[in-house]
Amino acid sequence: MQFPSFENVLLTAENGILTITINRPSKLNALNLKTMQEIEAAVAFLKNTPELKGAILTGAGEKAFVAGADIAEFAGLTPPKATEMAHRGHDILFSIERSAKPIIAAVNGFALGGGCELAMSCHFRVAADNAKFGQPEVNLGLIPGYGGTQRLTQLVGKGRANELMMTADMIGAEEALRIGLVNHVVPLANLQAKCQEILQKIFTKAPVAIAYVIESVNAAVDTNNGYSTEAEKFGQCFATEDVKEGTTAFLEKRKANFQGK
Ligand code: COA
Repeated sequence: MQFPSFENVLLTAENGILTITINRPSKLNALNLKTMQEIEAAVAFLKNTPELKGAILTGAGEKAFVAGADIAEFAGLTPPKATEMAHRGHDILFSIERSAKPIIAAVNGFALGGGCELAMSCHFRVAADNAKFGQPEVNLGLIPGYGGTQRLTQLVGKGRANELMMTADMIGAEEALRIGLVNHVVPLANLQAKCQEILQKIFTKAPVAIAYVIESVNAAVDTNNGYSTEAEKFGQCFATEDVKEGTTAFLEKRKANFQGK
């Protein structure tokens, strides 16, 4: 099979399964814009390749699935540019959520911020026992901008979503299982095998019916207002002094001192 060649995303295929591996381990697989474009292209490749029947999305290395959007790229973002970035991120993650072929997130370590959002855009999630989930954007003076306010609320309910996003707390795999954020927790060494086993079972079913399940489940949620509000508010964060303080503090490896301005 001839794969497109990418800088930050690796593709492999076996038995009808495309494995999409986010591969920037030195930055804990943080999602810069290039990586986001490559994820979009990988999903298009899945769609356009008849031999491929489904995909596993994972991160390179044992430490992280994806540790978030690339904070270094937030420097100098204006509110309109940030809103545009959120809309673009929404569209890329919609392409995963709306894929007619099943896509499972195999979460192997940190899934924070954009990483948790990426995992939540997949049809469901299997976690390794070392997985850690969180939406820590408020530590940076921000809110989630890749659909986290919407999908976390859908998956775990308003109360838990509010607490996770307001406290920026990280939760482990067992807690993620308990609240419905992931479907299974397995030892890291069994993560790929577990996802492959589930996909092979799905592949024995009627593909058109599987595609219609995906479409119908997605139709349970109205995607108009919430995502637009998130993109607009994400943009407005970039009009604050707090976002400069929060992102600079992260890159300087110190605690942020927010003024509420
Ligand atoms: N964006 C950009 N770079 C990131 C990143 C992100 N979201 N997450 C990690 N990195 C980089 C670090 O800056 C560091 O780079 P350096 O070696 O060039 O300094 C490298 O990845 C390793 O991360 P480090 O923080 O040293 O690892 P750690 O084990 O001490 O901590 C985390 C791991 C996940 C707790 C920590 O990296 C973290 O808090 N990341 C940001 C999470 C976040 O806020 N995500 C939401 C973004 S919207």
